Amino acid sequence: MNEKTKHTDGQIIARAPSYSFQDLLDREVAPVPDALRESTETFLGSEDLGIERYISPEFFAREVEKVWRKTWQVACRESRLRRPGDYFVYDIVNDSILLTRDDSGALKGYYNSCLHRGRALKRGAGRTENLRCPYHGWSWNLAGEFEGAPCPWDFPHVTQEKFSLPEVRVATWGGWVFINMDEAAPSLEDYMEVLPAHMNQWKHEQRYVSMHVEKVIAANWKVALEAFIESYHAIATHPQLMPFQAIDNSQYDVWGDHVSRTITAYGVANPSHAELFTEQQSMDAMMELAGSEERPEVAPLQTAREKLAEITLPSVNEQAGEDFSGRATMSELMDSTLYLLFPNFAPWAGHGTVITYRHRPNGDDVDSCIMDIFLLTRYPEGTPPPDDAPTFRLGIDEPFSDAAEVMGAGLSNVFNQDGANLPQVQKGLKASKKGAVTLGNYQEVRVRHFNQTLDKYLNT
Ligand code: FES
Ligand SMILES: [Fe+2]
Repeated sequence: MNEKTKHTDGQIIARAPSYSFQDLLDREVAPVPDALRESTETFLGSEDLGIERYISPEFFAREVEKVWRKTWQVACRESRLRRPGDYFVYDIVNDSILLTRDDSGALKGYYNSCLHRGRALKRGAGRTENLRCPYHGWSWNLAGEFEGAPCPWDFPHVTQEKFSLPEVRVATWGGWVFINMDEAAPSLEDYMEVLPAHMNQWKHEQRYVSMHVEKVIAANWKVALEAFIESYHAIATHPQLMPFQAIDNSQYDVWGDHVSRTITAYGVANPSHAELFTEQQSMDAMMELAGSEERPEVAPLQTAREKLAEITLPSVNEQAGEDFSGRATMSELMDSTLYLLFPNFAPWAGHGTVITYRHRPNGDDVDSCIMDIFLLTRYPEGTPPPDDAPTFRLGIDEPFSDAAEVMGAGLSNVFNQDGANLPQVQKGLKASKKGAVTLGNYQEVRVRHFNQTLDKYLNT
């Protein structure tokens, strides 16, 4: 039982009155990875958070200077930049970074601004031989060296040595390309703290994008991000998940400044709803959400979690070209295990297809953001990666159900439920008489951790 945990500083922090996620791990047959056995039990205080951080243009402007221009952030998948000359433009607020791969095979990041009179050199993504500005034709090679301009007689002051494109730091992890505009920032490896040691075993680099939805949401980027780093809201917002997701006893962890995690067990009814559902009803509800007509029978003495692991394993094996029998825990086959790397990169863990979220400001609008939902699917090592799925874009008024054809009806419905909250949160924050939000000590510790790190950046 899990009701009370004594914190290391002597404080008693309550826990859901049920078994814990760690208790579920005790029932695993396969060896449990050390990363899943970690449980940080962190208490970061109970103070309210002021609402200006979500609605104030001045606060937003400080984030641009202190966060977006100082932190490592995901720009794209490395598959966008496979060959020399592939390019991808990553826009963040009013900054624009032109990523490419040069002829030596090195990844390069440049400020996407012509050194003549400032035109953006590229937009979107594509392939090019050189970086030639469409306005007057000034040109750079892929390594950023100035190649020349029409009418050089008029520019004796423009020399090749002085006119290389200014660079932005670029690094990769897990098949993702990260950029950082701050030359003084730590390396990506140091910045990621415990995340690679935890997640390398789930091989994000050995995956392709099997789905990508990008939606504009009428809420501050942090309002949207915070809705996906706690499971507490699922009780009211996603009631259809109660038969098969253990929400109340989700585990929440934080490490250092940049990394946090939620683990919500799948295939078990929410503890406070458990008496309402048989194992078979849990199973049937899962299949219904997945859009399947099949209703696999849970055997006597078997749990729905065990049955789901049994029927999930073959497809995970096939995708990865590996046999996970006896090697993968049920948790790694099905649980929602989602990390956050500050400020906005949220990869999930596990051996099967995993989600990754990202939330960015929508240009310089404090009241809207862009949410990315990627599904990443394994492919066998030594085989060419399948093509990434095209990006499915949804505007501010288009619900996630408009993307049901790529997301599936069940998943798009879950995101619709979140999507219905977010603009109403933004609206309600502005209408707040109280002027602050109140957080749970445990279930919302990641929201607090995220905001405490944000404050550290803003105050340096
Ligand atoms: S602005 Fe780029 S060549 Fe003139
Ligand atoms: Fe949700």
